[in-house]
Amino acid sequence: MTKVLDNGFLILDFGSQVTQLIARRLREMGFYSEIKHFSTPIEQIQQKKYAGIILSGGPSSVYEAGAPYSSVKELQKVAPLMGICYGMQLICHDLGGKVESAKNREYGYKTVLWKKDIFSSSTSSLQTISNVLTPLSKDFPFGQNVWMSHGDVVTEIPSGFELLAITEDHPAAIENERVFAVQFHPEVVHTEAGEKVLEYFVKKCGAKKNWETKNMLEELNQQVLQQVRSSDHVLCGLSGGVDSSVVAVMLTRLLGKDRVHCVFVNNGLLRKNEYVEVLKSYENLGLNVLGVDASDKFLQGLKTLIDPELKRKAIGRIFIEVFEEAVASIKSQTHTEIQWLAQGTLYPDVIESVSTTGSSVTIKSHHNVGGLPERLNFKLLEPVRLLFKDEVRNLGRELGAPDAIIKRHPFPGPGLSIRVIGEVTESRLKVLREADYEFISYLKEKNLYDQIWQAFCVLTPIQTVGVMGDGRTYEYVLAVRAVTAKDGMTADWYEFKASELKEISTRLTNRVKGISRVVYDITSKPPATIEWE
Ligand code: XMP
Repeated sequence: MTKVLDNGFLILDFGSQVTQLIARRLREMGFYSEIKHFSTPIEQIQQKKYAGIILSGGPSSVYEAGAPYSSVKELQKVAPLMGICYGMQLICHDLGGKVESAKNREYGYKTVLWKKDIFSSSTSSLQTISNVLTPLSKDFPFGQNVWMSHGDVVTEIPSGFELLAITEDHPAAIENERVFAVQFHPEVVHTEAGEKVLEYFVKKCGAKKNWETKNMLEELNQQVLQQVRSSDHVLCGLSGGVDSSVVAVMLTRLLGKDRVHCVFVNNGLLRKNEYVEVLKSYENLGLNVLGVDASDKFLQGLKTLIDPELKRKAIGRIFIEVFEEAVASIKSQTHTEIQWLAQGTLYPDVIESVSTTGSSVTIKSHHNVGGLPERLNFKLLEPVRLLFKDEVRNLGRELGAPDAIIKRHPFPGPGLSIRVIGEVTESRLKVLREADYEFISYLKEKNLYDQIWQAFCVLTPIQTVGVMGDGRTYEYVLAVRAVTAKDGMTADWYEFKASELKEISTRLTNRVKGISRVVYDITSKPPATIEWE
């Protein structure tokens, strides 16, 4: 392993919903961090020179049989430790303190009272963070508003630890020379100045910043060079989206155009003009790209299919066929053997998350096309598998990819087929394509596009009566969806102004033939998903 990754932070995941945020915050602060399952053997952890180890929160009770466990006594010998919520409870439990079920559970906002201003050496001190000076105790005069979510509490802290902070009922932060622990969640945005709490730990570890886009790129390049031999060739499937595009640019710059063969397939389910425009921008970026127009094949394969999972399966199957043909043609034209298939897999897809309820059900069969590498006898190359989406965007910028690619909203592999509810026909696709074009153009014209994580239209199979001019119409209902999100795992609907909604509706009904009514989807994820199918 290389230097940067050796000096990062390890986050042991005990099953909290927000573990990923710890890694994110640390990376945003400039420190490489990675998440591993709580059961990762200590020998494996010792092999890497971590600057510090963080034990995440989790839904279990430390005193229950079978609760997720890792030896705190052993871990603290490897690197300085921080515990968050369950992590703090585990530290106390393992080092001789006491954890019990709370009489007063603490969920949501709470004020934590600190004994001293431990952040005073950083740019903002607790006094400036919050002016809550409590009459509760003159020994704990500094307040900080934090987010809590726990049913158990520490009732006795282990010997040798100093009590740093309390809530009105319980210890909220403790430390000794090697270990620091907090009962609340500094990683969530609801916690006031949460990054200062993480920064305090980072300083305790003496860690040096090691994660900026430039050295992130160097790091990833080195990893690729360790895998791919100098005679190897790589195939890269492009989707038009940011992840695969950034991977293609990165690999092309690193290995050269002759060794990185890109394929961009038109499945007939792209947006208006997208195939031609995106292909052009790939060529402008200097990629060695083969465009394959297979729209007819896909539309033929989608005929009569209504069930979204059947649509996805059909598209996956046809994609493999088309891809196989493209690979055969590249091989015969260039007389080369291809060993690798590059994919834009991201960190959230690879984190081994801790399930407390057994394996999770498949909501949608998402993402990369399974089965392809085995069938084509390829090895899989996933150069951005350690990155979050915003880091991939930064990488794209560093590589000089245009905003049109970097800032593009995510777009699903099955494209518009899962936004035409019911059977996908050329005529219904045409209506949706026009609507999507008008809606997205509006967002760009009003400078709203970059504030929204993903926006699109959905063509429903419902027809309703309308009146246009003097005539009666009986056309489709179009749904408009716009969401804000960080990574698509959860999402909120975007709060347009009423005047904007009015303009969107007028523009769509005036300019798009085939719709008579526009509705706005005001459901967050969960309970809904982002796409309708
Ligand atoms: P959902 O609908 O599950 O979507 O909330 C989360 C994100 O994933 C995208 N999505 C897909 N991407 N193949 C993909 O490559 C798919 O089958 C697929 N389904 C949903 C969706 O657009 C959103 O960004």
